[in-house]
Amino acid sequence: MTSYINKTRNELILICKEQNIKGYSHLKKDELIKLLDVSASTIANTSIGTNIGANTVISSPKLKMIDLFAGTGAFSYAFEKTGKVECVFSNDSALWSKEIYDLNFTHKLTLGNLNDIKPESLPAHTILTGGFPCQPFSIAGKQEGFQDERANVFWKILSIIDFHKPSYVILENVKNLVSHDDGKTFETIKNNLTQRGYYLCFKVLDTAEITGIPQHRERIYIVCMKSKDLYSKFSLDFPSVPKAQIVSLLESEADVPSKYYYTSRSSTWELVKNNVLKKNTVYQYRRVYVRENKSNECPTLTANMGTGGHNVPLILDNKGIRKLTPRECFNFQGFPSSYKLPPISDANLYKLAGNAVSVPVVELIAQRLMKLAVE
Ligand SMILES: C[S@@+](CC[C@H](N)C(=O)[O-])C[C@H]1O[C@@H](n2cnc3c(N)ncnc32)[C@H](O)[C@@H]1O
Repeated sequence: MTSYINKTRNELILICKEQNIKGYSHLKKDELIKLLDVSASTIANTSIGTNIGANTVISSPKLKMIDLFAGTGAFSYAFEKTGKVECVFSNDSALWSKEIYDLNFTHKLTLGNLNDIKPESLPAHTILTGGFPCQPFSIAGKQEGFQDERANVFWKILSIIDFHKPSYVILENVKNLVSHDDGKTFETIKNNLTQRGYYLCFKVLDTAEITGIPQHRERIYIVCMKSKDLYSKFSLDFPSVPKAQIVSLLESEADVPSKYYYTSRSSTWELVKNNVLKKNTVYQYRRVYVRENKSNECPTLTANMGTGGHNVPLILDNKGIRKLTPRECFNFQGFPSSYKLPPISDANLYKLAGNAVSVPVVELIAQRLMKLAVE
């Protein structure tokens, strides 16, 4: 990019005239430099507004991101919502992920095993996000997980990082990742990222505490940055906010189909009837008892809600005792009502909701990071 720093204001105005750049007349020297620099780098078809002076709106290119293990696309949604990011590639191996992603985003998800995708075939990007699967770590204790590249997608993420060198990498996983295998798993993850020149900020964040969405969900977020300066200004400390009432996330009773309600014909009717007693409370069926969640929170939604049985949380409403609907599970993950659910099985919708990152948590991170990134 041309350096305009040694030029006078009048010379810069002349350059603007020559290049047919509009809106320069009231700008100070440093604003003119910004205008010329940004104008040089503007990509016509993807731009965001940057206000640099009175009535002067110029555009700068959006940062490109890729969303790995995209599931519902919650990462794409939250980062694109900042207005400063465009997702250029998303991937998941589950068909139901493609169905929900393609319904909600103009850009289409690439269906397939990430291990079969060559890093060099991916588009260039500045941001890489990934709520990577946690199962590989369950065998790390037997010293198999990190030894087996095919089984462990973390190595695949690293090979993509090695090729594309994104400025920001945002990873999410279960809280247990930190203590798994006596902390060795997390050490390996941290070492591999810092060796590649990243500064790491990580923290376990609880959806209920920092977003007001009443779901107890503790997940570790690892934000990796190439810039030491940006790292010194960034943090994952977010203030606690009051929790919304559970009823505010429920569908109107008239809209809830009868299939979600328990009846005296249900095999677990007696147990459920004797335990699910209060409204505005979410219950969870665990083995042979129904557990009440006492703190006006929905218990952590999990992918195994989609495997049938009694994993879906229960509530009592005016019509009776029922499971949360898939839409309500998406509400408890902070998805907006405009987020569409495709006509796929409830099992797959529950799985998608239980696997997702909470949208407002990622929004908090994305907004803070993108504000610093474009300053
Ligand atoms: C924990 S979920 C991530 C959910 C996502 N972050 C969201 O907000 O919806 C992990 C996802 O990784 C996908 N997955 C697992 N192994 C994969 C692989 N080898 N290649 C591509 N996707 C994979 C699963 O289908 C699942 O959707």
